[in-house]
Parts: sequence; structure tokens; C-alpha cells
Amino acid sequence: MASGGVIGETLGGPRVLVVGGGIAGLGAAQRLCRNPAAPNLRILEATARSGGRIRSERGFGGVVEVGAHWIHGPSQGNPVFQLAAAFGLLGEKELSEENQSVDTGGHLALPSMCFTSSGTRVSLELVAEMASLFYGLIDQTREFLHVAETPVPSVGEYLKKEISQQVAHWTEDEETKKLKLAILNAFFSVECCISGTHSMDLVALAPFGEYTVLPGLDCTFSGGYQGLTNHIMGSLPKDVMVFNKPVKTIHWNGSFQEAAFPGETFPVLVECDDGGRFPAHHVIVTVPLGRAHFSGFLKEHQDTFFDPPLPAEKVEAIRKIGFGTNNKVFLEFEKPFWEPHCQFIQMVWEDTSPLQDTASGLQDSWFKKLIGFLVLPSFKSVHVLCGFIAGLESEFMETLSDEEVLLSLTQVLRKMTGNPQLPAPKSVLRSRWHSAPYTRGSYSYVAVGSTGDDMDLLAQPLPEDGTGPQLQILFAGEATHRTFYSTTHGALLSGWREADRLIGLWDLKMQQPHSRL
Ligand SMILES: Cc1cc2nc3c(=O)[nH]c(=O)nc-3n(C[C@H](O)[C@H](O)[C@H](O)COP(=O)(O)OP(=O)(O)OC[C@H]3O[C@@H](n4cnc5c(N)ncnc54)[C@H](O)[C@@H]3O)c2cc1C
Ligand SMILES: *[C@@H]1O[C@H](CO)[C@@H](O)[C@H](O)[C@H]1NC(C)=O
Ligand SMILES: *[C@@H]1O[C@H](CO)[C@@H](O)[C@H](O)[C@H]1NC(C)=O
Repeated sequence: MASGGVIGETLGGPRVLVVGGGIAGLGAAQRLCRNPAAPNLRILEATARSGGRIRSERGFGGVVEVGAHWIHGPSQGNPVFQLAAAFGLLGEKELSEENQSVDTGGHLALPSMCFTSSGTRVSLELVAEMASLFYGLIDQTREFLHVAETPVPSVGEYLKKEISQQVAHWTEDEETKKLKLAILNAFFSVECCISGTHSMDLVALAPFGEYTVLPGLDCTFSGGYQGLTNHIMGSLPKDVMVFNKPVKTIHWNGSFQEAAFPGETFPVLVECDDGGRFPAHHVIVTVPLGRAHFSGFLKEHQDTFFDPPLPAEKVEAIRKIGFGTNNKVFLEFEKPFWEPHCQFIQMVWEDTSPLQDTASGLQDSWFKKLIGFLVLPSFKSVHVLCGFIAGLESEFMETLSDEEVLLSLTQVLRKMTGNPQLPAPKSVLRSRWHSAPYTRGSYSYVAVGSTGDDMDLLAQPLPEDGTGPQLQILFAGEATHRTFYSTTHGALLSGWREADRLIGLWDLKMQQPHSRL
């Protein structure tokens, strides 16, 4: 194997910068560090921590996942599962062959308890009947994967069309029909959390089935998801991670000279908010799509993140791909009001229906988007529920104080349980992904007007026309993975993909030692 010095004119190998220290950036760095081309590598991370949207915090005497929660599809084909297993972060149950081969179809398990907003319990049979109707329709969306034209543009409109046809054949009394619609409405809210969107009407129908569900019963990390990214970080050389370095502008397609590197020129120069300047041959950009919007892809912001700006079709792809908000609300209780072994408490808002828009203000009804609460199992003597809420209501909740959230949810829970004396939760902890300055949302989805091609287009490196030094800017991150977008494994695979793309270039250079980088 040739030594690193053969690569280009730079001593110590090509200079590579990774923007963002989430799992995509860490994954890319991990793979590049092991390459014999011996790249000089830095990860520039805006915040004081690594992991990005994988974020485990101490709380309630245990670990709380502020970001990613489950390994979706934990089985051999899932690189996050494989790494977690190799690092010894999973237990016997998670590793069991049996659980690895469970096929959930990507759907949430049925709730253990289901309450209505006026304090009645809904029979789990009725919930199961509605779940099977709803998820049956969700599975049917795959039929539109390869058709030229869909009957309606969005998943939401398709579901509503099919449901309204079914409703015509319902034979129950009016009250039951209304309840069934309210239960279905609750499943729409669940699906909004899964897709990280305000409404299923925003999610494109044709490409919806392209999202791929791996086998395996979704599992969690007993010691926290962040153990995974901490392990990857620990495997990198000490000086690779640079914290508190928000990148302001990526100058590319240039020939930059820096005093620190006399006699050398670089096609890329990364400029940070604090004035720091990092010249490079290659930059792997892993900033979240929402952050990319925020940094200037959107028309109302000045375009400053890339100089020169990205090609028009890439800007367009970024604009079109969806990126919304899903947040968590953790509530701690003195005593559980739920049954033992209860895993998920579903909430059904009476007088809601997917077939009717009930326009009410965010202030008075934001909490109606809450899908219910997961009972956190990892807490023995502490009783903690984790609520999920997506969309504009979720973003509105971020603007409220903890006290306001606690007050509203206490009232909701008192009504639902029919117990006006239900003690208020002891404490509350929330995620605020929309306000997080370097994330600005939760994860991406394929929005109406876009297709999986837009994610592939986003993933294409620059320059695109083959002029000038190759692979100056590469793109990774969850939003660049066509079939696993919105997941940690999609993000990790995208980081590996871009590392391999660079390694492919270096391998080629090794075969042609006289060519320039
Ligand atoms: C509430 C929530 C729940 C989720 N649940 C799950 C789940 O159960 N299972 C699952 O698989 N996935 C889940 N996800 C999605 C998963 O967390 C992400 O898909 C994945 O972590 C994204 O990794 P990434 O490296 O692409 O981006 P990120 O983790 O966002 O990393 C990007 C990094 O870039 C940094 N950055 C941004 N701008 C700049 C800048 N200008 N300069 C320098 N650095 C910058 C950020 O600080 C961040 O550290 C969830 C996400 C959220 C928010
Ligand atoms: C599979 O996972 C579930 C949920 O964690 C657990 O209760 C069960 O024991 C596991 N199965 C095996 C065979 O370990
Ligand atoms: C890159 O630089 C070349 C030569 O200076 C120029 O012709 C080309 O238009 C530039 N490309 C972009 C995207 O700015």
C-alpha cells in the first residue's frame, strides 16, 4: 500500500472537513480515519456536544432520550443495530434471534389503555379494529410506488378518500361512528409523529412506500442512545472533533491559500462564525435539512452558507423535501395512574375526525395533537411518561413555559382519567427541536411535489460538471438517504456512503500517481 504522501501535494494526506458531529458525520469520520490515505481530518461541530439528534440526558434518576428513541428494525441488515451490538450496548432481549425476525410492518404496537378526552375508556377491540383499517390503508400506499399518476397527491388525502368510502357502509349508531372517526383521527396524529410532519396531507403519496422497514422489534438502549455516538467518537483520534465551531460559509470552487499552509492551494475554504478559517480539499456537509433552509436556502434568507451558491436544482430539491417537527414531553408522577405492565396510553379527542377540519386556535387546543404517552420502562421507582406531539402544535408548545405545559397537560389528564383530583406531574422535561438553532426541526419526509429523486439529487457531490478538483463538497445526513431517511441508520449509512465516495477517488489517484487532486 502506498503511503499517504503520494496523495496529492499535501503532506500527511488530503485535508477533509466534516461539518456536523451527528451520527452521519461521525460515521464518515470513523471510516475515513482508518483509510491508508491518512487524511487530515476535522469534524466541525456547532454545539458543545456530539451526537446531534441522538441526545441522551440524565433525568428522573435514569436516562432520557431527547432525540432518537428506538433502533427501527433492529436486525442484521441494520448498521446501527450491528454497531450497538458490537459495542456491547444491547441486552439479551434485543439481541435475541426471535426479536430480530419480528415483522411489525413499521407500525406502532396497539395501546395498552385508550382514553377519550371526556374520561371514558375506549374498548381495545374497537381500537384494534380501527388500527387494522388504518394500517391496512397505509400498507396499500405501496401500490402507488411505480404508477405514473396517483388519484390524489398526498397520503392524507388518500387515507381520507378511502375512509369516507368505508364510513358509508358503517352500520353502528351515530355515537359509535363518531368515536370510530375520533380513533382514526388519533392514528393520523400518530402517523404525523412518525413522518415528522404537521399533516399527512403534506406527505407525497407516490414515493411514500419507498421508505423501507427492516425486520426486528424496535428496541431502545438501556444506557442511552448516545452511548453509540460516544463510542464512535471515542474511536477517533483525539484532535478530530472541534466543538463550538458553527460553520458560517463554505467557499468552494476556488484556489485558497492560507498562511498556515505556505505554498499550498485548496479548492475549499470553510469559514466559521468565530472567524476561524479551515482550508480543505473536501468537505462533507451533514447539517440537518432544516438547518440548511435556515442557513439561507430559503428565499427570505440571504444565501450565505455556500459560496458560490448551490446549483439551482439542488436548492430546489432542498426546498421541496419535507422537514417537520416531532417533540417529546416527559412527565414524572409520584404514583402511576396507569395499570401495571401498561406500555402505551393512547388519547382520543372526541369530536375530532380526519374527515373534518376542526379549526381551533393553537393556544386553546395545541395539546389535541398529542398522541398519548409511552410508559418508560427503564425507571423502577420513578414513574415517567413520554408524550409525543408533531406539527405546528408541537412548534407552538416550544414557545410555552414548562409551567404552562404542565398546567395544560394536568387538565387534560384529569379529564381523560375522569379523576379531577389526579395529582399534577412532579416535573416536566421537553425537547425543543424546532427552536434548536442547529437543527430547526426533527427529520425529513418526502413532501407533496417531491420524490425520492430529490433526496438522491441532494446527495450528489459538487462540482457536478467535472470541472476543477473533484468531490469538493459531499452531502450526507438522514435527508440524503432515499429509503432510510428520518432514521439513525439512514444517517449512518449516508456518512459511510460519502466516506466511500472519497476513498474511491483516492484509490483512483493511487493508480494514477501523477494526477493532481
Ligand atoms: C424527537 C426525535 C425522535 C427521533 N426518533 C428516532 C428513532 O426513534 N429512531 C431513529 O432511527 N431515528 C429517530 N430520529 C431521527 C434521528 O435522530 C436522525 O435521523 C439522526 O440522528 C440524524 O443524524 P444526522 O447525522 O443526519 O444529523 P444530526 O444528528 O442532526 O447531526 C448534524 C450535526 O450538525 C451540526 N450542525 C448544524 N449546523 C451546523 C453548522 N453550521 N456548523 C457546524 N455544525 C452544524 C448539529 O449541531 C448536529 O450535531 C428522531 C429524531 C428526533 C428529533
Ligand atoms: C423480545 O423483546 C421483548 C420486549 O423487550 C421482550 O419482552 C422479550 O422477552 C424478547 N424476546 C426474547 C426471546 O428475548
Ligand atoms: C467554478 O470556477 C470556474 C472557473 O473559475 C467557473 O467557470 C465556474 O463557473 C465556477 N463554477 C461555479 C459553480 O461557480
